[in-house]
Amino acid sequence: MTEDNVNGRLRIAVVIGSVRRPRLADPLAVWLERELTAIDWLDLDMIDLASVSLPMHEMQPGGAAASPIADRLADADGFVFLTPEYNHSFPAPVKNAIDWHFTEWAYKPVAFVGYGGSGGIRAIEQLRTVFPELRATTVRESVLLPMAWEHLDADGRFVPPQGTVQALHATINELRTWARALRSLRLADPVVRA
Ligand SMILES: Cc1cc2nc3c(=O)[nH]c(=O)nc-3n(C[C@H](O)[C@H](O)[C@H](O)COP(=O)(O)O)c2cc1C
Repeated sequence: MTEDNVNGRLRIAVVIGSVRRPRLADPLAVWLERELTAIDWLDLDMIDLASVSLPMHEMQPGGAAASPIADRLADADGFVFLTPEYNHSFPAPVKNAIDWHFTEWAYKPVAFVGYGGSGGIRAIEQLRTVFPELRATTVRESVLLPMAWEHLDADGRFVPPQGTVQALHATINELRTWARALRSLRLADPVVRA
């Protein structure tokens, strides 16, 4: 294994979990993309589930050829889920996107940026019970954005409250630690895609 394999740039995919219009996800995703683009060790892929066709009635676990995002997920070294909380859980399109795929998640870390009345904590904690089934690990740190709708400026841009950027960096740094380690693991013992 070369030094580049271990310490090189990491590909991080952000999955935007709300698909409704209008949605608070839009200003939050703009903010998140701006913050993550400024980080020099990662290459970013923004995957907006609102722009992806993954019909529930045609769900093909394993993704691969039938999924328009399987290759993008497979290329990622780690994930950030930007997820709202709906009825004390995560939205159905998030579960559908997870279920459509399998090996694409394997031996990779997943981090969360949650939002909602209480910051999406229940959505995040429930997602933590899902990913081990896919051989993915979730990082301890997370970003909670309670009542983020109260933090929009006159132009509708998200203005993060104090401590948010620090929480994001703590989360992303932990994601990097896991992503590096698990990329080494996948290089040593490659995942065979379905
Ligand atoms: C169907 C539905 C259920 C919701 N349930 C909760 C909830 O249980 N807890 C919470 O904190 N917020 C809840 N909310 C508020 C959302 O978290 C909030 O509206 C958020 O902005 C939605 O994100 P979006 O606009 O990007 O879809 C709910 C919203 C919807 C549409």
